[in-house]
Amino acid sequence: MKLLSVNVSLPKEVPHKGKMVRTGIFKEPVEGRIAARTLNLDGDGQADLVGHGGEMRAVLVYSRENYDYWAKELGRGDFVFGQFGENFTVEGMLDEHIHVGDRFRIGTTLFEVSQPRVPCYKLAMKMRVEGFYARLLKSGRPGFYFRVLEEGEVGAGDEIRLVESDPVGMTVREVSNLLYFEKDNLDGARNALRIKALSPGCVRSFKTRLAKAEVGSKAHEQFRTLLVTQKVPESENITSFYLVPEDANPLDPFLPGQFLPLKLDIPGQYQPILRTYSLSDAPQKDYYRLTIKRECAPPNQPDAYPGVSSTYLHDQVEVGAKLLAKAPRGRFVLDPEGEAPVVLLSAGVGLTPLISMLNAIVESGSQRPTWFIHGSRNGRVHAMGERVREIARAHDNIHVHIRYSRPTAEDVIGRDYDDRGHVDAAVVRQLIPEANRVCDFYLCGPTPFLKSLFDGLLEWGVPEHRIHYEFFGPASALKDRERVSGPKRRAGALECCEEIEVTFSRSGVTANWNPSLESILDLAEAHGLSPDYSCRSGVCHTCVSDLQEGEVEYVLEPLDLPDPGSVLICCSKPKTNVVVDV
Ligand SMILES: Cc1cc2nc3c(=O)[nH]c(=O)nc-3n(C[C@H](O)[C@H](O)[C@H](O)COP(=O)(O)OP(=O)(O)OC[C@H]3O[C@@H](n4cnc5c(N)ncnc54)[C@H](O)[C@@H]3O)c2cc1C
Ligand code: FES
Repeated sequence: MKLLSVNVSLPKEVPHKGKMVRTGIFKEPVEGRIAARTLNLDGDGQADLVGHGGEMRAVLVYSRENYDYWAKELGRGDFVFGQFGENFTVEGMLDEHIHVGDRFRIGTTLFEVSQPRVPCYKLAMKMRVEGFYARLLKSGRPGFYFRVLEEGEVGAGDEIRLVESDPVGMTVREVSNLLYFEKDNLDGARNALRIKALSPGCVRSFKTRLAKAEVGSKAHEQFRTLLVTQKVPESENITSFYLVPEDANPLDPFLPGQFLPLKLDIPGQYQPILRTYSLSDAPQKDYYRLTIKRECAPPNQPDAYPGVSSTYLHDQVEVGAKLLAKAPRGRFVLDPEGEAPVVLLSAGVGLTPLISMLNAIVESGSQRPTWFIHGSRNGRVHAMGERVREIARAHDNIHVHIRYSRPTAEDVIGRDYDDRGHVDAAVVRQLIPEANRVCDFYLCGPTPFLKSLFDGLLEWGVPEHRIHYEFFGPASALKDRERVSGPKRRAGALECCEEIEVTFSRSGVTANWNPSLESILDLAEAHGLSPDYSCRSGVCHTCVSDLQEGEVEYVLEPLDLPDPGSVLICCSKPKTNVVVDV
């Protein structure tokens, strides 16, 4: 094995599709010997430290044999060393032979293979081949990263000596295929997690995949009894409940952002009450934490009853009480495989799933840049403020901004909150001017807050797929603009080859069922309708609709089946042609 060329470059701006892109991918060979340091080679740099670079990805390696393959495959003869953005062009180190975790001595430096390459669009730009990164992955020739275990010097022409072969013996190609193409291969993921040298980013991906699979497999299980072990006031009207299983079995796993369905037997209620509460701490603990706001009567209807479940939980559920819960569920989850910076935006008690995400990021050791931006009325009702600030003080990648709409005389700016007013897209723009280009957004709070942020972020140019949100109440037409009205028509945009037809009778829309969608609710939304929903998981019955004709099947078992003749459209799909009153 031999080091043929050492290639470096500092980031520079280059034109791409009408925009300027900052990139360090245009590497050029250097002569003589060069220092290899923990973070990179001397004279080298990466523009996007989220996707590239850092201790685990200090040096990118690609082999000359792959050059031959691509020259033939692309019919090109213009390649020069550094062509694939690699730092080391090597010979004799094939992706199908090198193991993640193998250690090599080159010159005076000791290297360890930390993970396969994670290519991005900049490689396609450099190669001038549209979508090249996908072809690279499919070819099984991704290349790999070295971490520097002992700093030293290297130079073109150095011999590469295998010092230690990783005992797990998974090749770069195998791990890359597992990451990208074999998402159902859970044994493979378990095996990869045995590689001690595997980078934390890959470890997180595989662990999350396993957790997701486990969560999915539990979603249909029956109610189980949980014991309240602690009840902690978080503000004047918000209280946390810590729950452990009554039996000796472990808790069902969950993903940050998911919620727990509860069935509450409340004295005076003629039937059990179903409610959902987000899990407010990071997963992988031996307890669940729910953080619940006491819902009073609406200000304009002071004589109405206060919230039945939240009042019961606050006033009557004490340490030692038993609660019935199903396994956690919900689709509002932090994309755990993502490494893009995240902005967590909440108002009021909407902070609960976002606190879980924040804690999960911190506890996993992820260096993902994270902004926690929260709006509250004032310090009396603001929950977990000091805890969030402590987290930000202890972690350079975590940034916090708190706004109070009506601070009291006791609230101190700079200590309890950062500014006066509401949280909206303008605040995000001001705090993180680049966020619309690079960040993923997670939103939770009252409907006006969600609507203003959702619209504001879209207007700012944030792609819709990067905005994730959760409603605690009915989702009243977040996407009002797309609401369809008018005469009966057949929707065309998303029609598919499936023979089954779904008619939304009240809206006059008929659409062919598209099996790539998860539910009738998804189909309705894909055709511009905005039926009400809340949990999207068969818990709350907000989406219940009359089933006027045909048969459906549930893709997620509802907590309680609706009355005959009705259907929960958030978790069902058609078995025959159906007509629903939407
Ligand atoms: C996915 C999801 C996650 C959630 N996570 C959380 C969480 O982490 N923390 C949290 O606190 N909540 C959360 N919620 C909200 C929670 O599920 C409940 O909706 C909330 O606690 C209110 O339930 P309740 O039974 O107390 O109130 P309800 O009895 O349902 O009443 C709701 C409101 O209506 C008012 N009301 C009742 N009757 C009348 C009437 N006749 N006329 C006028 N007004 C009336 C009540 O005063 C109250 O203000 C979540 C909801 C969802 C869907
Ligand atoms: S939206 Fe809650 S059951 Fe469908």
